[in-house]
Amino acid sequence: MSSFFVLQKQYEDLARDEIITISKSYDPKSTIKSNPRLVMVSSKIPWYRISGRATFVRYSGIIAGTFNDVTKIDPQIPVPQSFVCRTINLTSKNIGSSALERQVGGILSRKWGSRVSLSDPQITVYLIITDSEKYLGYSDCNSRPKFSTKLIKHPHELDMKLARCIVNLSGLKEKDTICDPFCGTGTILLEAESMGINSIGIDFDKIMCKITRKNLAANGFDSRVINSGYEEIQNITDKIDAIVTDLPYGISSRSSVSPKKLIQDFVSVIPKRKKLVMVYKKGLEVEEISKAKKYEIYRHKSLTRVIAVR
Ligand SMILES: C[S@@+](CC[C@H](N)C(=O)[O-])C[C@H]1O[C@@H](n2cnc3c(N)ncnc32)[C@H](O)[C@@H]1O
Repeated sequence: MSSFFVLQKQYEDLARDEIITISKSYDPKSTIKSNPRLVMVSSKIPWYRISGRATFVRYSGIIAGTFNDVTKIDPQIPVPQSFVCRTINLTSKNIGSSALERQVGGILSRKWGSRVSLSDPQITVYLIITDSEKYLGYSDCNSRPKFSTKLIKHPHELDMKLARCIVNLSGLKEKDTICDPFCGTGTILLEAESMGINSIGIDFDKIMCKITRKNLAANGFDSRVINSGYEEIQNITDKIDAIVTDLPYGISSRSSVSPKKLIQDFVSVIPKRKKLVMVYKKGLEVEEISKAKKYEIYRHKSLTRVIAVR
């Protein structure tokens, strides 16, 4: 079965690789076809398992064929009681989306004997127009990620969406375990747990550990939070499947080590066999991760984040 995922405009590379990693983690034989802002996945797993986790997806569903002439449209879709048509124009041209939706709506309504419902359709039929192909797709449920709630915030926290995305880039599934050895307020742990992935947090700041525990408890999660330096990770290596973390951006008052030295020291103690996804400030690159796949996220003029996946 082929699924489609229309990506948000922002962070297109990241969004595409997130879908690919989630798909392959559930079904390593998944095959991927990708156009600008459109990813199509042929795989054993249903589309909503992927879009229920993926951060930067706007629309998703099942591919039900292609079309050229709308009057001959014949989608492979179980006949619904009601539906709505929505055009997704991925070209740079104006294609008269509303007229197309009305025309296809009329044709399908007659063919199926179903009613068009703009407010409460049983399914949404998507007309996905790219420069090279016109696809028909549909979805019969709303599958958007459910983000956790943050009781206590902090100016240095990672935003929920990036936290979720980097957990997904680790390729872990439900019941696996991630460790965030610089957990701060626990954003990465929260997003992992909200997807059914177990998590262990470490932070050398007692107050941060307390905040993380409160944030986890507010969502009903009981991850382990260890008040210690990141070196503690060496004692729990056999309990974790991946390290997903967001390193300090400046010199902490508690350690006079420069952020670059900290990254270097950290990378030298983490187990090489474990998947690593780490976020750091651009400019702090170290040799040990020179071969990692990297994505840049511009935040403001003095902060561009790099996500490195190794
Ligand atoms: C950028 S913040 C992490 C923010 C976190 N991702 C969040 O969303 O709240 C970095 C964290 O690393 C912690 N930290 C700094 N040096 C550390 C060390 N040597 N060992 C463990 N934690 C450390 C700091 O206390 C801080 O909470």
